[in-house]
Amino acid sequence: MKKRLLSGIKPTGDIHIGNYFGAMRQFVEMQDNYENFVFIADYHAMTTVLDAAELKKNTMEIAKAYLAVGLDPQKVHLFRQSEIEGVTELCWIFNCLTSISTLKLAHAYKDAEAKGKPVNMGLFDYPVLMAADILMYKSDVVPVGQDQQQHIEMAREIAKTFNNTFSDTFKLPEGVIVKTVATVKGTDGRKMSKSYNNTIGLFDSEEVLRKKIMSIVTDSRKPDEPKEPEECNVFALHKLFSIDQVKEISNRYKEGKISYKESKDILFENMNNFLKPIREKKAELDKDEKYVLDVLTQGREAAQKVANQTMSEVKKKVGLI
Ligand code: AMP
Ligand code: TRP
Repeated sequence: MKKRLLSGIKPTGDIHIGNYFGAMRQFVEMQDNYENFVFIADYHAMTTVLDAAELKKNTMEIAKAYLAVGLDPQKVHLFRQSEIEGVTELCWIFNCLTSISTLKLAHAYKDAEAKGKPVNMGLFDYPVLMAADILMYKSDVVPVGQDQQQHIEMAREIAKTFNNTFSDTFKLPEGVIVKTVATVKGTDGRKMSKSYNNTIGLFDSEEVLRKKIMSIVTDSRKPDEPKEPEECNVFALHKLFSIDQVKEISNRYKEGKISYKESKDILFENMNNFLKPIREKKAELDKDEKYVLDVLTQGREAAQKVANQTMSEVKKKVGLI
């Protein structure tokens, strides 16, 4: 029997190349070797998106992104988190096993608190719902970007607590974090994130792509001055998109034989070649939303079967049935 892979992405806005390299690419590369559960974390998105039209639109965008980057619905159960009965019930059961002091250590909560942003209960409880997602399908591996590591550790802790309180029920899932792409940088050099407005979208048009690349922040070294590749935000993206040329570009940086403008031109060329087929596939899917919805229905049915088994086991163990 194949091991199980599970992961999800929140439909909070345009999907970017940080999501792709940090998470989605691993889903695609791993799909042949696992039984795969990949979902759209729409309940998680509601911690920030409280607009029906926007949530619906973003949800379809993620579904199409999964397909456009190469997930094969014959190999992967693709579904919406909110369509699976039992996930929020499991979250409640886990809530009763999770202390407030643990949740106060979660990064997302701490960041929001530190910035004086309002914290709703959904945001506070985010890691527990995520534990329900992961444990529901008895997942073995969870490929994610670095920022999700703490959540996976919390899911493991919750699994242990449940197993100790009742009896052995949940597997301890392993996070899969690829070091070289754990945190993809944005156009300003900070972590690429929608909240920093520094993203390069997976579906950005050629024109937008060019503008964004030209806006990447660099220092003011002249074309013939030596430059430090490891300190350059443009070079950081060459490592993802210009793999065959990286050595040569690195040498030209160090020898003062390339301008930032030329480096950006090369990056645009390579990035555009890479993103073009994804963009085209997405355009096809835009014309056939029925197909996308069918894929989600098929995925939901498979995921629901597993969720039903887990929930009846869990409810028996805790004394609800
Ligand atoms: P989110 O959009 O927050 O739901 O993130 C979806 C997935 O993309 C998660 O596995 C994140 O860890 C990953 N991710 C988001 N931003 C980045 C980034 N800048 N670099 C690497 N991975 C990222
Ligand atoms: N919190 C994840 C993110 O922001 C999305 C997510 C929700 C997730 N549930 C999950 C990822 C379960 C992996 C497993 O990226």
